[in-house]
Amino acid sequence: MRRLFLSSSFVALLAACTSEAGQSAFDPLVAPKGLEKVELVVAADNPLTKTKFELGKQLFFDARLSGTGTMSCSSCHFADQAFTDGKATAKKDDGSMNTRNSPTMHNVGYLDRLYWDGRAKTLEGNVLAAWKAQTGAKPDEVAKKIGAVSEYAAAFQAAFSEAPSETTIPKALASFLRGLRSGDSAFDRWQAGDDKAVSDAAKQGYDLFRGKAGCFVCHTPPLFTDKLFHNVGIGMTAEKPDVGAASDKALNDPEKTGAFKTPTLRDVAKTAPYLHDGSGKTLREVVALMSKGGIDNKHKDKLMMDRALSDAEIDQLVAFLESLTGNVPWTAPVLPK
Ligand code: HEC
Ligand code: HEC
Repeated sequence: MRRLFLSSSFVALLAACTSEAGQSAFDPLVAPKGLEKVELVVAADNPLTKTKFELGKQLFFDARLSGTGTMSCSSCHFADQAFTDGKATAKKDDGSMNTRNSPTMHNVGYLDRLYWDGRAKTLEGNVLAAWKAQTGAKPDEVAKKIGAVSEYAAAFQAAFSEAPSETTIPKALASFLRGLRSGDSAFDRWQAGDDKAVSDAAKQGYDLFRGKAGCFVCHTPPLFTDKLFHNVGIGMTAEKPDVGAASDKALNDPEKTGAFKTPTLRDVAKTAPYLHDGSGKTLREVVALMSKGGIDNKHKDKLMMDRALSDAEIDQLVAFLESLTGNVPWTAPVLPK
C-alpha cells in the first residue's frame, strides 16, 4: 500500500514536471508573444515540422557540412549573439573575406527576400547558396557523407522519407531557421498590458521612434522591418561602393543603388557591429547616425532626414531598442557520431 502510494505520487510529480517543461520548452510551431499576427513564409513543398526543425538544428552546427570539414553555419551565426558573430565581416571556408556583415537568423522565416540586397527569393535558396559559398560545400559529396551517418540517415527518413541530398539538407536547415522566432521581449510584454515591463526611458523612446524620429516607417512593428530596400548612405563613400539591391542578381533596379534590406531591430542589442558593411560599432552610434538622416549621397532615400534629436532623446531611443531583446529558449544540439 505504502509502496503504491509512493510510486503514484512519484508519477504525479513526474507528470507535473513534464507538463511544466512542456510549457516552457521551445516550440518552433508556436508564435511567440508579439508575433502572433505575422505569417511565416513557408515553402509549399516544405511544411514546418518539429522533426525537420530538430534535424536542421543539428546540421546548422555540424562542420561535416563544409568543404574543409572545419566550418559550420554556426561559425558565423552564434546562438548567443542572436546568430551573428560580433565581427564586421567574416572569413569564408575558402579563406576569402565576406564584404558584408553576418546578419541575425532570428525571424528570417518571416522574410520574403533574403540577404542584405534581397537576391534570394526563398529561404531554401538562400540556405543552399550559403552552404556552397560560405562553407565551401559540394552538396553531393556532403550528402553522401551525411547519409553514411546512421542517425542522420534515419532522421532524414523520418523528416522527409528521403535520403540527405542537395534538396533535403537545405529544407531541413530552412525549417530550423523558420523556428527561430524571437518575440516575448520586454517591449512585447509591455504592449500586451504589463506596464512595468519597460522603463520610462524606453516608453519615451518608442514615442520618438513612432513620432519625431520617424524610424517606424522603415522599421515597422512588429518585425521592425518593412522588408524593403533603402539607401541610407552606408558605404557610399567607398572607392567602389557596394551597389546593393540595384545588382542584376537582386532587384536589378538602378534606382536602388546602395539600397539594402531594412534590418529587423529585434535583438539589436545583441548584434553589434552593425550595418551591411559592419561599420557601425555601437548601437548608440548607429542610432545617432540614423536620426541625423544617414550619410548624404545622390541615391539617398527621401525618408532619411535630420530629426534634430537631443542626446537625451538618442538615449531614449537606445533604451527602447534594448527592450526588443527577445526570449528564445535555447539548448545546443547533440550531434550524431
Ligand atoms: C563565413 C561566415 C558565414 C557562414 C559560415 C554562414 N553564413 Fe550565413 N551569412 C553570412 C553573411 C556575411 C551573410 C550576408 C550576406 C549578404 O547579404 O550578401 C549571411 C546571410 C545569411 C542569411 C540571410 C539572412 C537575411 O536576413 O537575409 C541566411 C538565411 C544565412 N546566412 C544562413 C546560413 C546558413 C544556413 C549557413 C550554413 C549553411 C550559413 N549562413 C553560413 C555569413 C556566413
Ligand atoms: C528610410 C528607411 C529607414 C529609416 C527612416 C530608418 N532606418 Fe534604420 N536602417 C534602414 C536600413 C536600410 C538599414 C541598413 C542600412 C545599411 O546597412 O546599408 C538600417 C539600419 C539600422 C540599424 C542597424 C541594424 C543592424 O542590424 O545593422 C539601426 C540600429 C537602425 N537602422 C535604427 C534606426 C533608427 C533608430 C531610426 C530612426 C531614427 C532609423 N533606423 C530610421 C532603414 C531605415
